[in-house]
Amino acid sequence: MKALVTGGTGFIGSHLVDSLVSKGHEVRVLLRKKSNTKYLENLDVEKVYSDLNDKNSLKKAVENVDVVFHLGAIFNYWVPRDLIFDVNVNGTKNILDACLDANIDRFVHCSTIGVMGPTGTSPVNETAPYNPGGSTYTQSKCEAEKLVLKYYAEQKLPVTVIRPAVVYGPRCFYGMYDGITAAANGKLSAILGPGDNYVSLVYVSDVVQGFELAAGKEKAVGEIYIIADERPQTLNELFITMAKVFEINPPKRHVPVQVAKFMAFIYEMKASLTGGTPMFTGHSIDFMMTNHAYDISKAKLDLGYESKISFEEGLKRTIDFYRENGYIR
Ligand SMILES: NC(=O)c1ccc[n+]([C@@H]2O[C@H](COP(=O)([O-])OP(=O)(O)OC[C@H]3O[C@@H](n4cnc5c(N)ncnc54)[C@H](OP(=O)(O)O)[C@@H]3O)[C@@H](O)[C@H]2O)c1
Repeated sequence: MKALVTGGTGFIGSHLVDSLVSKGHEVRVLLRKKSNTKYLENLDVEKVYSDLNDKNSLKKAVENVDVVFHLGAIFNYWVPRDLIFDVNVNGTKNILDACLDANIDRFVHCSTIGVMGPTGTSPVNETAPYNPGGSTYTQSKCEAEKLVLKYYAEQKLPVTVIRPAVVYGPRCFYGMYDGITAAANGKLSAILGPGDNYVSLVYVSDVVQGFELAAGKEKAVGEIYIIADERPQTLNELFITMAKVFEINPPKRHVPVQVAKFMAFIYEMKASLTGGTPMFTGHSIDFMMTNHAYDISKAKLDLGYESKISFEEGLKRTIDFYRENGYIR
């Protein structure tokens, strides 16, 4: 297979590129002049300089490829609405348009479980209604996903949508990274809220597995798949496993939601005034405090997806990477 990967310089995309190359596929990576190519340096890949907002260069980028893995996006809760929509929605439209003329076999789109919003305590599947909430990031991902499915419905473009849960693993420098560095520095002191809400995670190689399986299955055309761990875990369970891996005591204190929200407000205000990025935002607190429980039966049945890396194992591998590369002691 000849594949184009957008977002191939990022956290998840670079792992996908690694895996495709290791399996002998021909890989073209879409990157920008300013992209950090650290993870591509020793790989035999074709580099094409483009941008999701540069329609002409995208035409060239999709020429003669069988599969487009579209992971390129702004993944940030603190970016102006216009900018994030321009890349995540208009950029997706631009590459879909380019694909219409390119005769590709499959367009695998990276969405997120965030388009379904918080759940109850029982896992929900792909039929749950869209509910992206107030975050511009999830709203943009929701619009992008709808657009991808529209190109399937109206233009017969062979698409598959993957909705990963919260992804962690080597090369990840946000989300779980903050929790892991806090634990490594002895600062895993309190759990946000009661800790009985469900969180859904997935180790990066399992997400890659989901992408690769989806690209090769005829049944996956026009379909959406949630890719996550076998079962969600509570925030309390997550902290217990982290403490176990770091051989420390799990935190006993719980930070009240209102206190966390107030801190987020202060961080946001400070960031607005200084132009920086808040350590966390009201939206990220909302995300961490609510239930996110997802059912992966459809991916297992249609794709043969298997959640292979347990949270404990994934955490150990991730910590090893941070240690080996000097990010934590
Ligand atoms: N991480 C998660 O927990 C998670 C969960 C669910 C879904 N996702 C989705 O997974 C995908 C990859 O996310 P990630 O976590 O790997 O994020 P990431 O590390 O920030 O990677 C984002 C990638 O998008 C590229 N990109 C951004 N703007 C672009 C533009 N205008 N033109 C071309 N490329 C552009 C970046 O290229 P540069 O190197 O040039 O900046 C980078 O390669 C995204 O679609 C995200 O929404 C992530």
